[in-house]
Amino acid sequence: MRWLASVGLVHSVPPNMMNAVPGQDNDHSPAAPVSKAPILVVDKDDGLAREILGVLDKGPYEATWVDDGEKAYNLLDSQPFDVMITEIASHRIDGMRLMSVALDRNPDMCVIFIASEPDVALATEAMRQGAYDFQTKPLNLGRLDAVIQRGISRQRLIVERHELRRRLDEQYGFGSLIGKSRAMANVYDTMRQVATSRATILIQGETGTGKDLIAQAIHNNSPRHDAAYVKLNCASLPEALVESELFGHVTGAFTGATRNRQGRFELADQGTLFLDEVGELTPALQAKLLRVLEQQQFERLGDSRTISVDVRLIAATNRSLESMVDEGTFRSDLYYRLRVVAIEVPPLRQRREDIPLLVDHFVQETSKANNKSIAGITRGAVDVLMRYAWPGNIRELRNIIEGMVVLSRVDRMLDVSDVPEHVRSTATPDLAEMRIPTGTTMQEIERIAIEETMKVCGYNKEACAKMLGIGLRTLYRKLKEYDL
Ligand SMILES: Nc1ncnc2c1ncn2[C@@H]1O[C@H](COP(=O)(O)OP(=O)(O)O)[C@@H](O)[C@H]1O
Ligand SMILES: [Mg+2]
Repeated sequence: MRWLASVGLVHSVPPNMMNAVPGQDNDHSPAAPVSKAPILVVDKDDGLAREILGVLDKGPYEATWVDDGEKAYNLLDSQPFDVMITEIASHRIDGMRLMSVALDRNPDMCVIFIASEPDVALATEAMRQGAYDFQTKPLNLGRLDAVIQRGISRQRLIVERHELRRRLDEQYGFGSLIGKSRAMANVYDTMRQVATSRATILIQGETGTGKDLIAQAIHNNSPRHDAAYVKLNCASLPEALVESELFGHVTGAFTGATRNRQGRFELADQGTLFLDEVGELTPALQAKLLRVLEQQQFERLGDSRTISVDVRLIAATNRSLESMVDEGTFRSDLYYRLRVVAIEVPPLRQRREDIPLLVDHFVQETSKANNKSIAGITRGAVDVLMRYAWPGNIRELRNIIEGMVVLSRVDRMLDVSDVPEHVRSTATPDLAEMRIPTGTTMQEIERIAIEETMKVCGYNKEACAKMLGIGLRTLYRKLKEYDL
């Protein structure tokens, strides 16, 4: 490693910098422009590393060299890399495992393997698991450089696509989810952060809030998007069937099992399994599920053969699992295993500002589906819809709009009279009627907003702070300030 000082651009990472924050290790090359592609070289052979670094030194790269897999592993946690060049099996952490960690951190990373000798089976397997290229010794350095260049330009394209997608999402929502409220933006943030990982996710929210759509969008944005997305609603079947649906069975496992059948866990191998209404699982099934989550292993019903799978689990529930844990009806160990990441989907009444967007979307969607040409919806009708409490959330909103569309005459705007009577009569009048005369100071506007929102929320400070999008402490301060 001593000789690295003379290479200048390249530096190896001493153990005490393993958890360095990105950027802190730039002391060696302060002038490096940001556009240099970060490349990690993992090679315990000084000679070979020197050759590779020599190539990288000439290109627009920022190379980091480590001499064993363990160091690479730590570094991947703390720094982003576009390319990783590693020997396939010469360090303690096998190259394949290192790749799976690397791709976990950055699914678009180009992993280039170097093997001591040609091995078609190994190369095929490596490519199947996501390697970008596979080279054998003695290295053809020109070819290596070409592969790196190709990999990096592919990556720039992917990044541009992600960026475009992100901007679109920012404008409209995430995937097929519509809504720009702050509450939903928080949900999208979490989704974005966890989509690329394998972490188990628990989605909690009232019925109709979009839990299904969220689970699907996470899968679509995950590295598993080409593999299966399998769903099972635990509430829809009797216990015995849920078990065979999840784990499969063999002939004769129970009366009626006339042939072997794969369960959802097998079908979802390499992909994502969405378990809806997970709170409905019986204690016996909770125990079985916990085992699969911990070991990624199970047996089909009636079979002793153990099956291993690689499945990402997303669970959803509209019940409070936390209170079920307190009551003793849901295993606490399973609860914590499921909620590695928790997503709370806010009910529609707590993000009323999303209603106009959703209404427009559903008017278009349902009129198309029903072959009706509807001119749109009036502001007055949207106002009424915004004041209703939506106990069935977005599903209810969609159904109401569809009913309005189907019943209305074509080529006109939907209006207040098209809104079903029960929605009109229970819409709280106060909500949309916060009158603020022109000439009012900002401070006065804030006072009115707080006062009116408090009324609407039945003087529940937590709900009021949430609706206003401010912290509870801020609300307390303002209430005192305005003497409310
Ligand atoms: N943010 C959203 N944007 C557009 N449609 C939505 C949104 N959330 C839910 N929906 C629609 O509302 C209905 C209910 O959503 P779903 O995901 O099944 O809710 P849940 O699983 O929470 O009961 C579906 O028709 C879904 O397409
Ligand atoms: Mg659902």
